[in-house]
Amino acid sequence: MHTTVGIIGGGPAGLLLARLLHRAGVDSVVLESRDRAYVERRQRAGILEQGTVDVLRAVGAGARLDREGLVHDGIELRFDGRAHRLDFPALTGGRRVTVYAQTEVVKDLVALQLAEGGPLLFEAEVHAVDGADTDRPAIRYTHEGREQTLTCDYVVGCDGFHGIARTAVPEHLRTTYERTYPYSWLGILAEAPPVYDELIYAHSPRGFALASMRTPAVSRLYLQVPNGTDPADWPDERVWDELDARFALDSAPGWRLKRGPVTQKAVLPMRSWVTEPMRHGRLFLAGDAAHIVPPTGAKGLNLAVADVVVLARALAHRAGTGSDELLEAYSDTCLRRVWRAEHFSYAMTTTLHADPAQSPFDTRLQLAQLERIATSPHAAAELADNYTGLPMG
Ligand code: APR
Ligand code: PHB
Repeated sequence: MHTTVGIIGGGPAGLLLARLLHRAGVDSVVLESRDRAYVERRQRAGILEQGTVDVLRAVGAGARLDREGLVHDGIELRFDGRAHRLDFPALTGGRRVTVYAQTEVVKDLVALQLAEGGPLLFEAEVHAVDGADTDRPAIRYTHEGREQTLTCDYVVGCDGFHGIARTAVPEHLRTTYERTYPYSWLGILAEAPPVYDELIYAHSPRGFALASMRTPAVSRLYLQVPNGTDPADWPDERVWDELDARFALDSAPGWRLKRGPVTQKAVLPMRSWVTEPMRHGRLFLAGDAAHIVPPTGAKGLNLAVADVVVLARALAHRAGTGSDELLEAYSDTCLRRVWRAEHFSYAMTTTLHADPAQSPFDTRLQLAQLERIATSPHAAAELADNYTGLPMG
């Protein structure tokens, strides 16, 4: 089999790239190691920047998003027993975010691709990329029990943090930047209506907590926990009690979350990680295959979208004009935005979490920064600008 663009991984990055290329008249094949049900159920974040919503609409994946997505005009910060709202449109000249789970984005893109796109193969596990720096790279994979080869003009690794595509970049040409954090998130999904209109990010002496949502009937909630935490140590009542304690407000001592059946519970690691460059010859890396941010700034999915928008434009430019100029600029173009998001995600994370090693001095600095955001339109605008998303490069 031969295709113009061989895409490894059918997460949001791979699926959206296939859609963008289809619209541009460039053919592609997507190889995904898992089955469809697994990919459509995998719980991830759910905050879409305005630019991400615009791209999904442009590829025809906007109908259910427009019906079911929850448009948010801000977030709430809680610290020192107080609540402060950030009004995004007022701070950014009109930008908002939309709450629509990544699982739903994936379902919409899979359905579209199967209905009118190029091949999307599930349970097709890629083992290797050969000849990344030649004119005819090839992807070796197993499908239906047989070893197969897909030759391509270009290969794109959209295979996430645990993917294999980046191993095709020789080690001496690759640089990895990493930071791990001394805490994780315990995330739950609960059949309980959120009692808050907007997301709540809470700094507390007990640690960070985040109240998000999936629908008007389903809450998504997170607690900072120590690394290595076993979810079994957190029975539902303990989770709810701890969430209430971390969201507590001096002005509303009776404020409580609405409780309901917990349908999922998992511990998620926190990591900042970037591999450079994002291109080697005719191999390109996009999304989590090239960079990870801790989830505090809700940037992971949006960064993946920005990468594939830049890449699809460059591949279409090449198909239309024969020029490699945009493909050659791909890595630098993406990395500028990636590092901005890395900084933002790091700053949100370290300002809001309680590091087990932090001193009372460090805590005072965190509170001073949060106070600054709550009282200075300049500081608030800086957060809002990053959160709602900088222009796609
Ligand atoms: N062969 C084929 N597919 C593979 C292989 C392989 N060897 N290795 C991994 N995959 C698939 C995974 O099963 C997964 O479906 O690649 C896909 C990668 O998808 P994601 O991990 O969702 O990464 P990406 O598409 O870049 O999306 C980024 O994911 O982690 C979140 O916060 C992040 O929301 C952001 C989004
Ligand atoms: C989520 O809804 O899962 C979510 C929201 C905001 C974040 C991270 C995750 O910062």
